[in-house]
Amino acid sequence: MHSTILGTGSYLPEKILTNKDLEQFIDTTDEWITTRTGIKQRHVAADTDTTADLATRACRNAMESAGLTPDQIDMVIVATATSDDAFPSTASRVQHALGLRNIVAFDVSAACAGFNHGLSIADQYIKTGFAKIIIVVGCEMLTRVVDWADRSTCVLFGDGAGAVVLGASDTPGVLSTHLHCDGSQHGILYAPNTLVQKNADSPFVKMEGREVFRHAVTRLGELVDETLAANNLTKNDIDWLIPHQANIRIIQAMAKKLDMSMDKVIVTVDAQGNTSAASIPLALDIAVRDGRVKRGDLVLLESFGGGLVWGSALIRY
Ligand code: ACO
Repeated sequence: MHSTILGTGSYLPEKILTNKDLEQFIDTTDEWITTRTGIKQRHVAADTDTTADLATRACRNAMESAGLTPDQIDMVIVATATSDDAFPSTASRVQHALGLRNIVAFDVSAACAGFNHGLSIADQYIKTGFAKIIIVVGCEMLTRVVDWADRSTCVLFGDGAGAVVLGASDTPGVLSTHLHCDGSQHGILYAPNTLVQKNADSPFVKMEGREVFRHAVTRLGELVDETLAANNLTKNDIDWLIPHQANIRIIQAMAKKLDMSMDKVIVTVDAQGNTSAASIPLALDIAVRDGRVKRGDLVLLESFGGGLVWGSALIRY
């Protein structure tokens, strides 16, 4: 038994905040943000929206593209670093909002690599026969957890959600998944829960950008080699790279590592900023809908985030 992607969906909030808008209230420039990160704008959720609302819209969109109804879904896995509640899970809200049966629903916490983790878990459940159809959704409200007075972090992030419907199949779709964690580097990228950690000074995102950048390029480079070796493939076999969208310079480094021209890389960081766990399924959905990624293409998904955690999936779409 294998798992394969039956459908994709996404949701981006209407409101857009450009770099020029940011220039009006923090000490930054469009030029600094663009050259350091490639970001030009990000989407910001409406005040009335929850993370679960964004996720629910992306899931509906994905179920529609898969031609499935709620009664056919066996499990919901939500990857998020910005859950609406400390407990219960955002997944329980999404399960209810989608009108699903009494099915398994839980969250996965792996920051920007959350979607890769959720996809890997879903793949295992399908391979063992525990479930036939699983929705995996990455969803984030990162604009709510950045300090808007801290120019080194607030310019980087955006809100959004992306989902895939993964289903059992005789032919392999998800060829392999690879996950890693180096907890010794926890302190270079995190957002403390200040209700639990009494000594933490603020709940906002804290990041040592340069260190994160350095680890990301090294670890993602190793991950590409690991993924290709596990499948007895070479760089030339990959049709599309869909990386986590944190920084165009990290993305370009990975394209170089794969000897891949940038038109074979799906890039959304310019239009969306870093949407953490949502960025890969958002990019996949865009590329499927605009016809770049076609059935049968070999697609490499890779991500890196706070933990530190990193993960990949090789997919025959
Ligand atoms: N506008 C203008 N100047 C700024 C801004 C800004 N928005 N932010 C920082 N600066 C200044 C700094 O104060 C510093 O000034 P100084 O030299 O006078 O002290 C200078 O710019 C350089 O700052 P650095 O932080 O060293 O800049 P760097 O080139 O490293 O770029 C960045 C920062 C974009 C954050 C980069 O390090 C990066 O992308 N890192 C990786 C991020 C990432 O991959 N995150 C992973 C996922 S996130 C997750 O898991 C939730």
